[in-house]
Amino acid sequence: MKTYLVTGGAGFIGSNYIHYMFNKYKDTIRIINVDVLTYAGNPENLASLETNENYIFIKEDICNKDAMHNIFKQYDIDRVVHFAAESHVDRSIRNPQVFVNTNVMGTLNLLDAAKCAWETEDGYKTDKKYLQVSTDEVYGSLEEEDSYFYESTPIDPHSPYSASKASADMIVKAYMDTFHFPANITRCSNNYGPYQFPEKLIPLMINNALLGKKLPIYGDGKNVRDWLYVMDHAKAIDMVMEQGKLYEVYNVGGHNEKQNVDIVNIIIDTLASLLPDSDSRKAHVNKDLITYVEDRKGHDRRYAIAPDKIKSEIGWEPETMFAEGIRLTIEWYLNNNEWMEHVTSGDYQKYYQEMYK
Ligand code: NAD
Ligand code: DAU
Repeated sequence: MKTYLVTGGAGFIGSNYIHYMFNKYKDTIRIINVDVLTYAGNPENLASLETNENYIFIKEDICNKDAMHNIFKQYDIDRVVHFAAESHVDRSIRNPQVFVNTNVMGTLNLLDAAKCAWETEDGYKTDKKYLQVSTDEVYGSLEEEDSYFYESTPIDPHSPYSASKASADMIVKAYMDTFHFPANITRCSNNYGPYQFPEKLIPLMINNALLGKKLPIYGDGKNVRDWLYVMDHAKAIDMVMEQGKLYEVYNVGGHNEKQNVDIVNIIIDTLASLLPDSDSRKAHVNKDLITYVEDRKGHDRRYAIAPDKIKSEIGWEPETMFAEGIRLTIEWYLNNNEWMEHVTSGDYQKYYQEMYK
């Protein structure tokens, strides 16, 4: 039985990945989820696994070096999938410090603990691998139409968030280049799907529309993101882990570029079509809610991934068409009102007031 150490598994992508893995491998794997439970970490995302004896939750900070080493001493870990991070660009503009601590120093701690545990006299124990979950934002912004991010595109981050993720990638690269540490890096585009915290564009717009609140679009709304359904990302991570060539970087993208304003319009139309006439919220879900607000500082104009390498070397492709993925996502939020109420009580209200005042 393989033992996975997943960091940040109580967050959006991490929890979807853990569900994907248990659905696929059933009781042939064990997953240890290390998560300090920041505002973005939510044990409710994994409540259905409480009785699964192959799932172990450890509430711990990846910045705690001794704790990371102890986990590797306690368990014989075969795979590390490193999701834990501060992940929201707007928050990084307001408070960069925590991004560098978690995303850079936390990554270094984890690498160091894995390297110590896996090293032998002449290399590493067999069949061990570390996967760094990175982002297309490390490549910066595409200004020209028909240009794409390739693995060979120079790193050119702009926000404190993307700079911290790029720094983490460089530390992983240093471990691969200097110590031949067995690792891969994946760089993915914007994910959407269930369990995403409503500070990000899609769940924020769904929640606001249902509450009849304004839908705040930054700048002219024409910034482009390349959207990928989160379960397709989970599958890509698993495939890179098992089939990826050691030391390689793989871009993961949805072939699905959309302007922000188009995303918001699709959300309004889909909500309006899914809500029954008897639901009182249906009356206020309309385009009058759209409001253009001050632009994000340093707002990257366009992201678009060329996932050619992962397709040709590994055979992964995005499977979920956006029309289907957004319907599944909106249905999930409609069916999980309590989840939304829990994550938007307390600190979220303060964040929202300060951010959108
Ligand atoms: P998220 O913010 O939803 O979840 C992050 C998780 O990490 C939370 O559970 C949080 O509690 C945990 N965490 C934060 N700091 C920690 C610390 N110091 N120690 C332990 N746990 C800590 O993030 P997400 O959107 O799920 O993103 C996961 C990863 O994927 C991140 O590394 C992010 O950079 C990357 N990524 C995200 C996207 C996207 O569209 N969301 C796209 C590409 C890459
Ligand atoms: O590209 C991958 C990245 O995607 C990940 O690495 C990040 O962790 C993830 O947060 C995401 O970053 P973005 O900044 O692209 O995502 P966000 O949902 O914050 O914003 C998407 C776009 O929508 C962006 O152009 C800003 C815009 N936006 C966002 C919010 C929250 C708005 O116009 N209004 C909003 O209220």
